[in-house]
Amino acid sequence: MLVMSEIGVALAGLGTVGRGVLRNLERNCDLIEHRCGHIFPVRAAAVRNMEKYADFQDKGVKLTTDPLSLAERDDVQIVVELMGGEHPALELAENTMKAGKAFVTANKALLASHGAHLMHLARKYSVPFCFEASVAGGIPILKALREGLVANHISSITGIVNGTCNYILSSMSDEGMGFEEALLEAQRLGFAEAEPSLDIDGFDAMHKAIILAALAYGAWPNPGEVYVRGIRSIEVADVRFAAQLGYSIKLLAVIKRADAGKVELHVQPNLVHNSHLLSSVSGSFNALVIEGDVVGQTVFTGRGAGADPTASAVIADLVEASRNMKLPHEHLPTVCCESQALTLPYEETCSAHYLRFTVLDKPGTLAKIAGILAAHAIGISSALQPGQSEGAEEEYVPLILIVHVARQRSLIKALSEIEKSGVTRGGAAFYRVAHFPGENS
Ligand code: HSE
Repeated sequence: MLVMSEIGVALAGLGTVGRGVLRNLERNCDLIEHRCGHIFPVRAAAVRNMEKYADFQDKGVKLTTDPLSLAERDDVQIVVELMGGEHPALELAENTMKAGKAFVTANKALLASHGAHLMHLARKYSVPFCFEASVAGGIPILKALREGLVANHISSITGIVNGTCNYILSSMSDEGMGFEEALLEAQRLGFAEAEPSLDIDGFDAMHKAIILAALAYGAWPNPGEVYVRGIRSIEVADVRFAAQLGYSIKLLAVIKRADAGKVELHVQPNLVHNSHLLSSVSGSFNALVIEGDVVGQTVFTGRGAGADPTASAVIADLVEASRNMKLPHEHLPTVCCESQALTLPYEETCSAHYLRFTVLDKPGTLAKIAGILAAHAIGISSALQPGQSEGAEEEYVPLILIVHVARQRSLIKALSEIEKSGVTRGGAAFYRVAHFPGENS
């Protein structure tokens, strides 16, 4: 029979997610208690403006404007950080662990920059440190990596891990909107932040990719070494041409085991073939494909953001933290990584690509471009020339090529030579074509 006990919680931040945690702890209190033997009363919360949250004080949540004071409370065993940003989240994490309390966070930027240090502290002070809500909201992907897939060498993780970008790209593809229009619509509907650059420039996805890489490979990549390209410059023409060729454009975080103990890691728009599940993940949903040597391919999908999905992950962490408090930390089926990973230089990575040139519509143009590509050992697998000039001199038309797998360094050299060859106007638009284990390359 379970012995019920109370585990006091403090929330640093009572924004959308914090209130979602409170609401769902209250709503499913009996279920949670039944399943884990604990209740999790929220005893304190740090907020910027105490007046705004006076109602919570009436419900027994002690309010403070000083987040660091939460670590010192005797009636709190778990501190949940939902403020975001590096400071004072880092100091709160440090103080909480030094005080012998469990630390739960949804803060991917904090983890991407200080994950190794925080893992070290968790081990040193033998305290639970949980961060399920930092990646893919309600999808229990970190638990899957740490526990369900613990028997596997992970060869790759490919994920749509930013709901804002996926929403915008879906609107561009389904509604024919341009990027700016789709962004405004996403902001109007509350999917995109008023200041959207962290999402649309790919950094939110990069932070999540670093956390996934750390759990998959046991070491933390350096954020400065990760190639990141967001969705800001995607033109609706490329969304259309990709669709004509049977692809959708998705912002993908790609994490792969490379040779010599290195990790390949990048975040950028990719073409995903319509035959693959990820191409049909639309709107603000997230999805991840993980390839393990024992299990094969597994696919996870669900809501990657929002109050309730994120609260689902935070509450799962409260339960995990409560269990880990009772057990010696070392015996848990977890992955503890405190070292830095070696990242494969981006120029060394390989992929098939979609290329769109604006070319002079005259005989020999395609031959010239194909010749330069061939000189760099890059073969063409398909071509599309949708427009035709009407006889006027110096007419330019789009030329779209899908090229076979090539090293990034060779592709960049070839594109630079093509740009100087005089048959194109401006540089090419280029995107990787995603490749999934089991597909022909
Ligand atoms: N802003 C993120 C997204 C959610 O759009 O997916 C929080 O990580």
